[in-house]
Amino acid sequence: MRLAVGSDHAGYHLKQELLAQLSKEGIPYDDLGTNSSESVDYPDFAHKVAEAVRAGKADLGVLVCGTGQGMAMAANKLSGIRAAVAAEPYSARLSREHNDANILCLGARVVGSGMALECLGAWLSASFQGGRHQRRVDKMERRGG
Ligand code: RB5
Repeated sequence: MRLAVGSDHAGYHLKQELLAQLSKEGIPYDDLGTNSSESVDYPDFAHKVAEAVRAGKADLGVLVCGTGQGMAMAANKLSGIRAAVAAEPYSARLSREHNDANILCLGARVVGSGMALECLGAWLSASFQGGRHQRRVDKMERRGG
């Protein structure tokens, strides 16, 4: 499993902490930026990560901004992308089990690094349950542009 990870300036420090954890666990990733706390526009990084997932260069993506919201909105504009914001592990887990989320969005101004790591761990260890959830995901995809 390979991840694509991105952030804006607000999410930069938390992204670095998440990357350190991924390295520790031996999970491969591509860091698609940003590379400092200098102000940037979150859609640029949301699109990079979403494109990587859509192209199959990454299996899953992780995006970090101030709240997670802007990243999710921008990533979800791309068809085939299901980006979920989570601030606690239950929603993170269910976003994969029920919604087949392929991008996790975290808010660095909302959660501390401990909670963010819990969310990431819960999300990565969950898997899509299919069945009735597949039918619902298919309906979402059919409505997408
Ligand atoms: C940047 O100030 C902030 O707007 C951004 O990180 C994000 O929270 C947007 O959704």
